Amino acid sequence: MRRVVCPGSFDPVTYGHIDIIGRAAKQYDEVFAAVLNNVNKRGLFTVPEKLDMLKEGVSEFGNVRVTEFDGLLVDFCRENGIETIVRSLRSVSDFDYELQIAQMNYRLSGVETVFMTANPQYSFLSSSLVREIAQHNGDVSSLVPPYVQDRLRKKYAERAGQ
Ligand code: PNS
Repeated sequence: MRRVVCPGSFDPVTYGHIDIIGRAAKQYDEVFAAVLNNVNKRGLFTVPEKLDMLKEGVSEFGNVRVTEFDGLLVDFCRENGIETIVRSLRSVSDFDYELQIAQMNYRLSGVETVFMTANPQYSFLSSSLVREIAQHNGDVSSLVPPYVQDRLRKKYAERAGQ
């Protein structure tokens, strides 16, 4: 059983994430899409909200499990029998950052990291840009699924009302 993890903040999930997870699901037997529950950094969305959106996003793939993790990713891998981390590379600057993390994760645990090149359709896409555009009522319909658009609209409306 070849089991991998696609970890991330998913704040919120985008079409870029869904593309990578779907491609990983074709390559491997089981994919964990794992949301970091980061006690030091509050995102726009809560972890349960991120999990809901991610579950909906990957519902078409039969071999993807959505879950959360905290602490070190390599500990999550060990606890779940995962030997490979899948990460997406959109740019050279992604590579600079990801290489160091991948090497550290390997040193810590022997877990391998496999890099997938981002679909060029989404190579400019990030959750932080989606949040910024949505905050100013910009059009994110080609970047995130409709239910994520709704959640973004509601979240920023709530915030504006506070
Ligand atoms: O979507 P992101 O924010 O690029 O995902 C980053 C993530 C969650 C994969 C990374 O921050 C992570 O693995 N965090 C868990 C803590 C950890 O293991 N850090 C690496 C130490 S070498």
